[in-house]
Amino acid sequence: MAQLFPPKANSVAKTSLIFGGMLPVLVLLSGSTITRSPANTGVGVKLDQPVPFSHKHHAYELGIDCRFCHTSVETSGYAGVPSTETCMNCHSVIWTNSPLLEPVRKSYEEGKPLQWNTVNKVPEFVYFNHSIHINKGISCNHCHGAMNDQHITQKSRTFHMAWCLECHREPEKYLWADANNPDLTPKQQVFNLYLKQQLDPKMANMSPQEKALLTGQEQRTSNSELIAKGNELLKARGIKKAQLMDCGVCHR
Ligand code: HEC
Ligand code: HEC
Ligand code: HEC
Ligand code: HEC
Ligand code: HEC
Repeated sequence: MAQLFPPKANSVAKTSLIFGGMLPVLVLLSGSTITRSPANTGVGVKLDQPVPFSHKHHAYELGIDCRFCHTSVETSGYAGVPSTETCMNCHSVIWTNSPLLEPVRKSYEEGKPLQWNTVNKVPEFVYFNHSIHINKGISCNHCHGAMNDQHITQKSRTFHMAWCLECHREPEKYLWADANNPDLTPKQQVFNLYLKQQLDPKMANMSPQEKALLTGQEQRTSNSELIAKGNELLKARGIKKAQLMDCGVCHR
């Protein structure tokens, strides 16, 4: 039988198979181009919340550790938002008459959780995991902005794929170690940064990367000395850089 298709057809068929498989993804692609316009990213927008909870008061001024409220952040994929009971540990004894705390008391009495509006979210087809980032020493502030300085929580970054990949491509540019506290694990450094700021509010004894983080900037460096240190930290922390760009890391 004469050849119906030129030899090239096989690879054409393969290509269309691949694109057939990619179709849902391509649809998402066009969708996300629309949602990417600045008006829709939500950066810097303060959402309505049931209570005007301030991280600046609680985490920086009072020095409460992030893990007191976000209990699963270092052990699981999710940071989680605290229960009313966590607030009532303190607010059943202090500031008990504050009108701002009325919804907290009501939630406690009625046994109905407060409905916090979600500030940060990735689409469902993206896998994210908090604990691995914290354990390798990536600061909350790199991804969430200066949480130590926020009165009403707001989104500081848009979690576009390109943004995640900037670090996954060259993680050595983002790693730092606390020269004053070399015995701390990378994870302990993440939380200790907030404590350091309490003891050193003018940040006189902080590295450029620590200062950047505490003032809401990203911790990326282009300084070749710091990058060389970053490469040492890559090894010391067992970070498998070669795999970090695989699609399957974030799309499972
Ligand atoms: C006393 C409790 C408490 C402490 C301590 C605390 N948080 Fe929170 N956090 C909350 C509550 C309540 C919310 C939900 C309301 C809101 O968005 O402000 C929240 C929300 C957040 C969010 C946004 C969640 C979302 O919807 O995307 C981030 C990010 C966050 N916290 C980071 C931190 C970091 C980093 C620290 C430590 C520096 C910290 N928090 C310490 C109670 C706390
Ligand atoms: C470890 C103790 C502690 C915990 C836990 C705590 N708070 Fe507070 N909170 C305080 C203190 C102390 C103040 C007063 C801070 C100030 O004004 O300097 C305060 C102040 C407040 C205020 C301002 C009240 C006013 O009238 O100005 C709000 C609102 C508030 N907290 C909400 C919460 C919520 C919501 C939670 C739970 C997610 C929470 N707090 C958990 C200690 C705590
Ligand atoms: C590498 C970036 C990155 C780091 C580091 C990071 N976060 Fe997040 N965080 C995210 C992303 C992305 C989301 C949205 C997750 C989703 O939609 O499932 C998020 C969501 C949250 C939420 C909302 C609730 C939840 O679990 O989804 C809280 C609270 C939060 N982060 C707190 C923290 C705290 C506290 C730290 C530091 C101890 C931290 N984050 C470090 C990227 C990060
Ligand atoms: C500042 C650097 C940095 C940023 C930003 C970052 N990551 Fe990572 N990510 C890492 C490092 C470091 C690891 C650990 C790799 C290792 O230990 O081998 C990691 C690991 C992961 C893993 C592997 C988890 C596992 O259980 O195997 C996932 C998934 C991931 N990141 C998703 C994301 C997503 C999604 C974003 C964007 C919202 C993001 N990351 C942003 C540095 C970063
Ligand atoms: C470090 C995590 C990470 C890795 C690795 C990754 N992605 Fe993504 N990807 C994301 C995030 C986060 C989004 C959501 C972006 C948004 O909401 O704007 C996304 C979105 C997408 C989308 C939807 C369109 C878009 O750009 O928003 C496609 C298609 C996609 N990824 C394909 C891939 C392919 C193919 C690979 C491998 C070459 C890959 N991704 C590797 C995190 C990752």
